[in-house]
Amino acid sequence: MPPGDQGADVRLRTVSKRYGNITAVTALDLHVGAGEFVLVTGPSGSGKSTLLNLIGGLQAPDDGDVLIDGEPVWRGRDLPRHRRELVGFVFQHHLLLGVLSARANVEVPLIGAGIGRRERGRRSLRLLDEISLSERAEHRPEQLSGGERQRVAVARALVNEPRLLLADEPTGALDTAASEQLFDLFADVRERRATTMILVSHDPLAQKYADRTLVLVDGTLKQPRAGEAAGVRAPAR
Ligand SMILES: Nc1ncnc2c1ncn2[C@@H]1O[C@H](COP(=O)(O)OP(=O)(O)OP(=O)(O)O)[C@@H](O)[C@H]1O
Ligand SMILES: [Mg+2]
Repeated sequence: MPPGDQGADVRLRTVSKRYGNITAVTALDLHVGAGEFVLVTGPSGSGKSTLLNLIGGLQAPDDGDVLIDGEPVWRGRDLPRHRRELVGFVFQHHLLLGVLSARANVEVPLIGAGIGRRERGRRSLRLLDEISLSERAEHRPEQLSGGERQRVAVARALVNEPRLLLADEPTGALDTAASEQLFDLFADVRERRATTMILVSHDPLAQKYADRTLVLVDGTLKQPRAGEAAGVRAPAR
């Protein structure tokens, strides 16, 4: 992967999000610096997916501001463009289109961005090659393993060269070996492109890849106890 621009700087200022009388995220302050790899954990229902959706511009905060590179996402920005050009999403389930080949799935975001067919083919095949799936380019999702599908989903999230990658339980449906391969891919992306990464995961493996771990409880960040290691940087490879 060619070195991209610097990753996005992400800041939340007293952000709250409510669903009726349920408060999913409560007056949350957070700063994730450009190129940081942050892991978010916490019990089910603690607001992790909501947090990612707020950062990725999929949901609007009720209070507070989400700032990307110092600019509020929900005021003044062109949101569809923000999502398309700045942010890549990977979910627990791959959400690939079953009728399309791996290559065509990776190309979908490029169609939205108005990139021509030849260039789309060039970029998707290069990415599939980087994730060691070039021989599977013409296979449909049902012809791929779970881990391979998730790697294709990561390629699709990366094809627009986003400066921020958000992943919500991407290894939730994978075994240990496939999970490790996916986390290696994330670490590789961060190293090569300096992409800012925010990963929601319960997977104990994830800790060793992240710079630090945030724990969400009831929509707020739990402060790490003094002396508690907040995650260990992955060794240089
Ligand atoms: N669309 C919605 N409508 C109403 N309530 C919602 C909605 N989405 C989430 N919630 C509620 O907001 C809270 C936070 O949900 P969220 O999905 O962010 O949790 P989570 O930490 O991602 O949980 P999990 O680990 O189970 O994925 C929960 O109480 C949930 O029930
Ligand atoms: Mg969730």
